[in-house]
Amino acid sequence: MSVIIAPSFLASNFLRLEDECSMVNQSEAEWFHLDVMDGRFVPNISFGLPVIEAIRKATSKVCDVHLMIEEPGLYAEAFKKAGADNLTVHYEACPHLHRNIQQIRNLGMKAGVALNPHTPVSLLKDILADVDLVCLMSVNPGFGGQTFIPHTLNRIRELKDMILASGSSALIEIDGGVTEANASAIVGAGADVLVAGSTVFSSTDPIGTIGRLKKA
Ligand code: DX5
Ligand code: ZN
Repeated sequence: MSVIIAPSFLASNFLRLEDECSMVNQSEAEWFHLDVMDGRFVPNISFGLPVIEAIRKATSKVCDVHLMIEEPGLYAEAFKKAGADNLTVHYEACPHLHRNIQQIRNLGMKAGVALNPHTPVSLLKDILADVDLVCLMSVNPGFGGQTFIPHTLNRIRELKDMILASGSSALIEIDGGVTEANASAIVGAGADVLVAGSTVFSSTDPIGTIGRLKKA
């Protein structure tokens, strides 16, 4: 299976959101990556439910919603109604992670857990069988356009081994600082999904860029 490409709309031009959606629709990208930030869990505020509802109407591709918010359980149902297919919550924001994951799955979405760069991958051991997706942050969450943290490659290998050993079918998603230059190393380490914000949306040929990431 070739790698799944998930352009992050945080880097899109919000004045031309409809055009940005049709560009991604025409491309080889399979997922729309939608970053929600609350100004509490991360030091930035992005967009929320109404924007996701609008984007949902503009695509039939997978809406992959990455919640960088505290108490995500309070909003899981609302994100389902807004059109999320995948809902990812942060390990660091969820003292009752297993409950959050169950809630997301019971609502009919795929459940993801995201880890900040400093959170050991080994902490996922007892939740791996229950999640559909692990999002490894390869930058500190909150902002687009940052530089990929190289140690992430070791984290991907460690997580891949854990997934294979446990029989889990969770996908490994890498989020932050993905470029055409580092994509093949990331895929080589074991990533299944590449999130790419600035690399895609600041490209002069975004469809070509997505195509090249896809071949990584
Ligand atoms: C950061 C977000 C990312 C961000 C990635 O907190 O989760 O999805 O948009 O942006 P780039 O690809 O520009 O690093
Ligand atoms: Zn993200």
